Amino acid sequence: MSIIEKAAGKLGQKKVEVTPLPEIKAKSLNNPISKAHDALGARTPDRQIQKRVEINLTQLHHLGMVTPDQGKTLVAEEFRLIKRPLIKNAFNQGAGPIKHGNLIMVTSSLPKEGKTFCAINLAMSIAMEMDHTVLLVDADVARPSVLRTLGLKSETGLMDILLDDKLDLADVMLKTNVETLSILPAGKSHKHATELLASQIMSSLLDEIANRYPDRIVIFDSPPLLLTTEASVLASHMGQIIMVVEAETTTQHAVKDALRQIETCANINLVYNKAKAFPGGNYYGYY
Ligand SMILES: Nc1ncnc2c1ncn2[C@@H]1O[C@H](COP(=O)(O)OP(=O)(O)OP(=O)(O)O)[C@@H](O)[C@H]1O
Ligand SMILES: [Mg+2]
Repeated sequence: MSIIEKAAGKLGQKKVEVTPLPEIKAKSLNNPISKAHDALGARTPDRQIQKRVEINLTQLHHLGMVTPDQGKTLVAEEFRLIKRPLIKNAFNQGAGPIKHGNLIMVTSSLPKEGKTFCAINLAMSIAMEMDHTVLLVDADVARPSVLRTLGLKSETGLMDILLDDKLDLADVMLKTNVETLSILPAGKSHKHATELLASQIMSSLLDEIANRYPDRIVIFDSPPLLLTTEASVLASHMGQIIMVVEAETTTQHAVKDALRQIETCANINLVYNKAKAFPGGNYYGYY
C-alpha cells in the first residue's frame, strides 16, 4: 500500500480516488515557434472576452504536456482517466448533486509536486472534449506560473478584479488559440493576497464564475497547502479537488496534514505524480 493510500485510509470512510501519473520525459525543442491552431474548430466562442493570446502548442507538446492534435500520448491517456469522474461530477452525473461541482482546484502539500503541470494538462484535456469549455484560473497569486508555462507574458487577472470593482471578468479573461480554453491570469501580486482570496468579494466572484458559466469547467491552479493559507481558503469554495502527491518524495505526514486542510470538500481525488512505475495494477482505489 502506498503512502497516499495509507493517508487516504486514515480519513475514515470518505471515498478518495487515487490515480498514478508517470513521470513524463520532455522532448528536445526543435521548433519553439508554433503556428498550431485548434484542430477541433470554433465552437461557441466566448463573445464577451476581448483579449486573445496564442499558446505555443508545439513547445507545450515538447515539454511532454497534453495538446490538441497530438493523438494518443501517454500523458494524454493518463489525463483522460483523471478527467472522466471530474466531468461526471461537474455536471451532476455522479452519485448526487455537488455544489460548485464545476469548480475544480488542483493543489498539493508542498511546492514543485506538479500542481501547475496537472492543472494545465487537465484543462487542455477537458478542452479537447467535444462539448466542454474550460476556464483555467491561475490562483497561485503569490507565485503565478500558468502563463509562463504556456509561453505567454503576464497579464492583469484575478487580483486586479478583486481590487477594482469596475473591472469585469471578461475584461481580464484571455481567449486562446484552443477555442474551448480560456484563461484567467493571477494578475498583479498583492501583499494582502490571502485576505483578498478569503474576502466576500472572492466568494461572490466564485459564485459568479460557477453560475455565469455553468456549462464550463473551471480549473484552479493553487499554491501548496502546507506553506500558505490561500489554498485552504480556496478549497472551501470548490466542488472538487485534485491533490497531487509527488511519488517517492511527499511524506505520509505531509499528505495527511494537507488532506486535513481540505476535508470540507467531499470530492477529493489524489494524483500520484511523477511515478517511476505504476504501483500495482489498479488505476483507481476507493478508501
Ligand atoms: N508527471 C510529470 N512528469 C514530468 N515532469 C513533471 C511532472 N509533473 C511535474 N513535472 C515537472 O516538475 C516541475 C514542477 O512542476 P510544477 O511547476 O507543475 O509544480 P508546482 O506544484 O506547480 O510547483 P509550485 O508549488 O512552485 O507552484 C516542472 O518542471 C514540471 O514540468
Ligand atoms: Mg505551480
